[in-house]
Amino acid sequence: MFSTEIGRTRGKADLYRDLASSLAALLAGETDAVANLANASGLLAQALERINWCGFYLTRGQELVLGPFQGKPACVRIALGRGVCGAAAERRETLVVPDVDAFEGHIACDADSRSEIVVPIVDGGTLLGVLDVDSPEKNRFDAVDKEGLEGFVRALVPLIEWRKL
Ligand code: SME
Repeated sequence: MFSTEIGRTRGKADLYRDLASSLAALLAGETDAVANLANASGLLAQALERINWCGFYLTRGQELVLGPFQGKPACVRIALGRGVCGAAAERRETLVVPDVDAFEGHIACDADSRSEIVVPIVDGGTLLGVLDVDSPEKNRFDAVDKEGLEGFVRALVPLIEWRKL
């Protein structure tokens, strides 16, 4: 079974670089889109510290619908523009929310979440979905996490057969 040992004493930027290449190795040779997204969320959950939820919402018309994830069961449908996920999707920009209680319209799927980052997944102008990561700590995500998770999403886009989801 594939496993990943990401050195926790190294810097976060290094960790994210390792993650992007681990992702390519993990998904190599497999074309099933659900399996690959499930393993991508598993990889993140294993590598990132101090998080309580990570996973994907996928574009379905004017909604985002829950995809593969790690964490507690979550809300299934989020309208574009709603919550942190819907706002990031609509704006097509990463949202880093240091305190979810201070974000107007935040959708509390897991009551433990205190901060959150949502990275839109866009390919050639098409919004495919978002990557959402939650933490039980306020201010968990900084500019390095933002850049690192955006890099993770950039690495992920060509590895998934999105049409088959
Ligand atoms: N908090 C998100 C909803 C998804 S859960 O965090 C998994 C939001 O406000 O969009």
